[in-house]
Amino acid sequence: MKKLIAGNWKMNGSLVANELLVSELLAGIKLAGGAPACDVAVCVPTPYLAQLTGLINRPFLSQKDDIAGKNTARSAIELGAQDISAQASGAYTGEVSGGMLKDFGVRYAIVGHSERRAYHGESSQTVALKTKAALAAGITPIVCVGETLAEREAGQTEAVVKRQLAAVIHDNGHCISEIVVAYEPVWAIGTGKTATPEQAQQVHAVLRAQLNAASSAAKQRVRILYGGSMNAQNAKELLAQPDIDGGLIGGASLKAADFLKIIAAAGE
Ligand code: 13P
Repeated sequence: MKKLIAGNWKMNGSLVANELLVSELLAGIKLAGGAPACDVAVCVPTPYLAQLTGLINRPFLSQKDDIAGKNTARSAIELGAQDISAQASGAYTGEVSGGMLKDFGVRYAIVGHSERRAYHGESSQTVALKTKAALAAGITPIVCVGETLAEREAGQTEAVVKRQLAAVIHDNGHCISEIVVAYEPVWAIGTGKTATPEQAQQVHAVLRAQLNAASSAAKQRVRILYGGSMNAQNAKELLAQPDIDGGLIGGASLKAADFLKIIAAAGE
């Protein structure tokens, strides 16, 4: 399975900073041969989607092509959003639909990140509906699951992640093979405390079994990413685990050199 390395920029960036970061990433990828062994994506704040579409495609366009149109050259970096509305259109102030994201070349949307579950009250039911909306728009949802420290210490890790994923499977059973899952233990996000490769592998194996039981099509197809303080130093060991098919990277995706090292580790 081809690994996926996705950066989650969260609420970081500016027009100037984005241009610099993306040009460093594209230059680094080019220097390493131009075609990474893994899929690469950056999930950026909504206002920058238009800028990013231009930045990631421009160096690959021939002079005759234009950004909006017929160009077939694909950038080595794909575009992701950090959230998506469960609704297709209408009176939902502040929401952004899958169709709108598609207009800007968005390939992936993070759904149910723990920061949205915690700060915006997103339930697993909402996450399931957002997953459905993404799939309907032809966007690959990156569905996040993960336990808090208290839940881990209470021995509830497996039950929590299985419950979170079950809601998504329940509403999306027929096309569950089209999703990406990200296991992000809440206690490892932005804390510098990474799950050990063994801890992560154990949970990934549980999620894999749950997906396989839900759909024969999901077998060997659904990528399960690890997220939570993944960095240039620990990526290789985490990505070597049999059920870790990539990474969802926060802080380290904002530094080109670190993100490039993680991309390289995914190809080893
Ligand atoms: P950090 O890599 O900063 O811990 O963030 C992980 C994350 O939340 C990615 O979605």
